[in-house]
Amino acid sequence: MRAVSGANRPSGGEREGVSGANRPSGGEREGEGGANRPSGGEREGTTVEGAEAEGIDPGRVPAHVACVMDGNGRWAKARGLARTDGHTEGERALFDTVHGALEMGITWLTVYAFSTENWNRPVEEVRFLMNFNRTLMRRRRDELDEMGVRVRFIGRRDWRLPRGVLRSMEDGMERTRANRNLTLTFAFNYGGRAEIVDAVRALVEAGTPAGKITEKAIRRHLYAPDMPDPDLVIRTSGEYRISNFLLWELAYSELVFTPVLWPDFRREHLVEAVREFQSRDRRFGGVAR
Ligand code: FPP
Repeated sequence: MRAVSGANRPSGGEREGVSGANRPSGGEREGEGGANRPSGGEREGTTVEGAEAEGIDPGRVPAHVACVMDGNGRWAKARGLARTDGHTEGERALFDTVHGALEMGITWLTVYAFSTENWNRPVEEVRFLMNFNRTLMRRRRDELDEMGVRVRFIGRRDWRLPRGVLRSMEDGMERTRANRNLTLTFAFNYGGRAEIVDAVRALVEAGTPAGKITEKAIRRHLYAPDMPDPDLVIRTSGEYRISNFLLWELAYSELVFTPVLWPDFRREHLVEAVREFQSRDRRFGGVAR
């Protein structure tokens, strides 16, 4: 059985294929893999070091995986529970996925936690989600820090976000800012179109002449300009949509859709998606190599 762990993982610059030299990704990747990267065996629950990891090439693990955590409501409904119970259960899935990402050597994980359109959900659910995200960061901050995870947020910081939520976001980011094993980015009050609009607005406000509004200039004004483009996007729950997620960044991402509802998603499903990713031929508009 082949183990997929941090130990035999090549560093960013040395990787071939998916994250190699010709990968037109976003910003520069920073130093990764720290002394405090936890080994799979030390944690509770399953690990991907074993049968599930069979067939994964550790040299071609995607650097950046992004997830649309969909299906919480349907998971709850199927059990006669409230939609919000599905979100609560989704936290377990999120942390199992974080562990799996660390074990496989994925260095960027971005999750869609609340979209600019999710304000249209019932007011009680919106209130629950705001509070849930606030307390999640408070409850899990230390654990994420110990795992060497850097927490970040992308999205609009507008008047709709309660002050307590903003404060817990700032605390989480501040507490974990030096970590480099994995950057866990929450897309929160995030919309892909809004992000592009905000970038263009910033350029216009800075007096940028039309001829200087280039792809590079827009990228520099995205919410996280140093974040590499996702190599792999996973959407759970059998929906085949992007729903306004990372529209600019996923121009050349590989898309994997799974029927698994988010609360049931576990690190072995992440491994499965990575296996699927490794079977794809990425061409970036060129020809097969
Ligand atoms: C996009 O589908 C999905 C999201 C924006 C994910 C929302 C996720 C949560 C509310 C739960 C967060 C859970 C944790 C554990 C932090 P959509 O439903 O916004 O779009 P659609 O209408 O096109 O399906």
